[in-house]
Amino acid sequence: MAELPMMPVPVTIKAIVPETPSIRTFYFDPGIPSSPGQFVMVWVPEYDEIPMALSSEHSITVQEVGDATAALFRLNVGDRLGMRGPLGNGFTVSGKTLAIGGGVGVAPLLNLTTAGKVSTFLLGARTRDEILFAPVIASSCNLHIATDDGTEGHHGFVTDLMDGIDLDEFDHICVCGPEIMMVKVLERLKRAGIADRGQFSLHRYMKCGLGICGSCSMDPHGLRVCRDGPIFTGDDILESEFGKYTRDATGRKVYFPSARPEGEIKEEKTET
Ligand SMILES: Cc1cc2nc3c(=O)[nH]c(=O)nc-3n(C[C@H](O)[C@H](O)[C@H](O)COP(=O)(O)OP(=O)(O)OC[C@H]3O[C@@H](n4cnc5c(N)ncnc54)[C@H](O)[C@@H]3O)c2cc1C
Ligand code: FES
Repeated sequence: MAELPMMPVPVTIKAIVPETPSIRTFYFDPGIPSSPGQFVMVWVPEYDEIPMALSSEHSITVQEVGDATAALFRLNVGDRLGMRGPLGNGFTVSGKTLAIGGGVGVAPLLNLTTAGKVSTFLLGARTRDEILFAPVIASSCNLHIATDDGTEGHHGFVTDLMDGIDLDEFDHICVCGPEIMMVKVLERLKRAGIADRGQFSLHRYMKCGLGICGSCSMDPHGLRVCRDGPIFTGDDILESEFGKYTRDATGRKVYFPSARPEGEIKEEKTET
């Protein structure tokens, strides 16, 4: 087994590309040789260490959502970051692959696509301005777009685009996006009897990224998203907390609104 990267390696930001109003790609050097779907723990000096998928061996593509990502957005070309990685398993594909990505979840699928391993890509975004990487994806495979507000492509959810696709044609269906979106994909694969062909890139709260602390463990099997994932087959997660709840930094359950048990008043996760 490869040695685990325990210490952050310093990298220098070489370019910052605004992709959408809320998403930027940070190109850095030296690169991190990796497989599509693997991630790094990014040390943002003086703030936090947070998990980010590699959108290429030299880049991470980040949506600003809170303190650490806002601090990242304040950095400039020439500034330094620390990175531990590559971590996790990555996608495993051969034959014909369908990719389904929503929002910033398109980032870990980009590497797979530019490597020529995706034949069809279903790409979802809230609005035309938030569509990520469409030109580069369109140059590598068949691209179908859906936007929630109908400003580009199909008016509706990216999962609607699955209606026009013969899922059985594909050996693998690689998915990353908001968990509610991935749940809808898994439901369709299950109905088609091919849940095992789905590969889902999951997000859970991560601290060590090395399989030690247990903060990213999923009920009931104890699968660690950082070490056993972040990519899991549909079969692996069918009977699990997936789509029901996650845990926050303190380990408390945070329910998705549609899965919140009767009388449960704990924090809710936004179902986007
Ligand atoms: C394997 C993996 C790959 C990811 N890849 C990307 C990516 O390519 N691009 C991208 O924009 N985001 C990605 N994320 C999500 C990213 O890690 C969070 O958006 C980021 O940590 C938010 O930090 P914050 O301080 O800005 O926001 P906060 O306000 O602290 O948190 C906002 C949200 O991010 C989650 N979050 C915060 N800290 C962590 C943490 N240590 N581990 C996991 N989730 C956390 C919180 O649960 C919360 O839902 C990935 C997450 C995982 C687990
Ligand atoms: S983040 Fe520590 S075990 Fe996964």
